Amino acid sequence: MKHRKLVILGTGGTIAGKAAHASDNIGYTAAEVGIEQLIAAIPALHGSGSIISEQVSQIDSKDMSFEVWAQLANRVRHFLADDDVQGIVITHGTDTLEETAYFLQMTCQPAKPVVLTCAMRPATALAPDGPQNVMDAVVVASHPEACGVVVVCAGTVHSAMDVQKVHPYKLDAFGSGDAGPVGYVEEGKLRLLRNWPVPQADIALLAIEKIAIWPRVEIVMNYAGASSLMVRALVDQGVRGLVVAGTGNGTIHEDLQAGLLSSQAAGVRIVRSTRCVDGKVLSLSGCAIADSQGLSPVKARIALILDLAAEDARSSAVGQA
Ligand code: SIN
Repeated sequence: MKHRKLVILGTGGTIAGKAAHASDNIGYTAAEVGIEQLIAAIPALHGSGSIISEQVSQIDSKDMSFEVWAQLANRVRHFLADDDVQGIVITHGTDTLEETAYFLQMTCQPAKPVVLTCAMRPATALAPDGPQNVMDAVVVASHPEACGVVVVCAGTVHSAMDVQKVHPYKLDAFGSGDAGPVGYVEEGKLRLLRNWPVPQADIALLAIEKIAIWPRVEIVMNYAGASSLMVRALVDQGVRGLVVAGTGNGTIHEDLQAGLLSSQAAGVRIVRSTRCVDGKVLSLSGCAIADSQGLSPVKARIALILDLAAEDARSSAVGQA
């Protein structure tokens, strides 16, 4: 069947931000302009076929929550199930974009394209970057080979697995580390640099709507003089998992490590990642702490939360049998 409709979901962010002066690119309030207004301000979009838009949230993405993620994943799943929908574009703040991208990839595993885009300048800026980013995202979402969750910013396409915000100000604020970007959008055309990232399909889709309480997982960092103080405080508060953003190849100060190992022995799930921006933690034989399988600390945290939520769902199914 021929797909015709394109869905654009708004969640907030700088792309929907307003400043008092057009020359102000940083002193703005995020998430002020509605998705319909954002689309209306991009005349070039109006020739892009049938577009459905929906405001899923209107937030600064630093305040992203599991409740908003669950709502967003539900809307994404809903539209993906419509045979007439070709793809989905999501406008989002840049600050937690990589986390939302990974969450949606894991919870929706889309066979169609789900393209997150954003802006580093508010909608009121003299030269806003949002409209071009949306246009580029639409190009990717309309591409016949595109599938899975990707991020489009400043003409570059990143996979959900690799993307990270790497700059707090530049318009080209995202990187894909040593994996490199998936491609570029140039003058309305997608130029692929590598094979389209194939979404993982080996985990069961979670029944997100049934999750009342998301498992609490926090991140601790290793640094000179790190101790187990934070670990003890977090475990006392009932965290079920901890991701450690280790130094180098996920190395951990002996004092912090002692706290992590005793928490692990008490049943808290511990995962070792790296605070390095590029590369990934390599498995160390004999290391008592599991590594993050190449995920950054923030994505490893989401992976652990989803794993614990799946574990909870399995035990409640066994309990009901
Ligand atoms: C946000 O993440 O919502 C604000 C910052 C941005 O979009 O650049």
